[in-house]
Amino acid sequence: MKHILLLNGPNLNMLGTRQPELYGSDTLSDVEREFTALAAELGFDAVCKQSNYEGQLVEWIQEARETAAAIVLNPAAYTHTSVAILDALNMFDGPVAEVHISDIYKREEFRHHSYVSLRADLTIAGKGVEGYAIALRDVVGRL
Ligand code: DQA
Repeated sequence: MKHILLLNGPNLNMLGTRQPELYGSDTLSDVEREFTALAAELGFDAVCKQSNYEGQLVEWIQEARETAAAIVLNPAAYTHTSVAILDALNMFDGPVAEVHISDIYKREEFRHHSYVSLRADLTIAGKGVEGYAIALRDVVGRL
């Protein structure tokens, strides 16, 4: 059976210490543990990956075409710059949810635009790390 892929982009390995006033105090391990537990409750295996490199994220999205039923991703800064990640997502057939811990629409103007939103079936921003659970429930509901 295909798994649910959780992808986190650059600097999200620093969650917990990175600007906690914006991103909270949970670490990436906390996020991945809770995501995996909720996925199991919903009847799915989760595979959780993080990279600071755009090409690595692109390669994981390409591989997901064969291995993942759905993708939940926080592309972090690549949200606002990466046509390559958008193109990779456009080759993926299953549901895609975009998560932002902070409310990108209430921050600097350059964060208001998301390439990934052009493909994502839903975008969640500003709900803190709870956004990952909301996204997971949503994509599972679409399967
Ligand atoms: C982020 C928002 C992005 O603008 C930023 O570059 C990040 C994290 C968020 O989760 O709120 O790295 O995606």
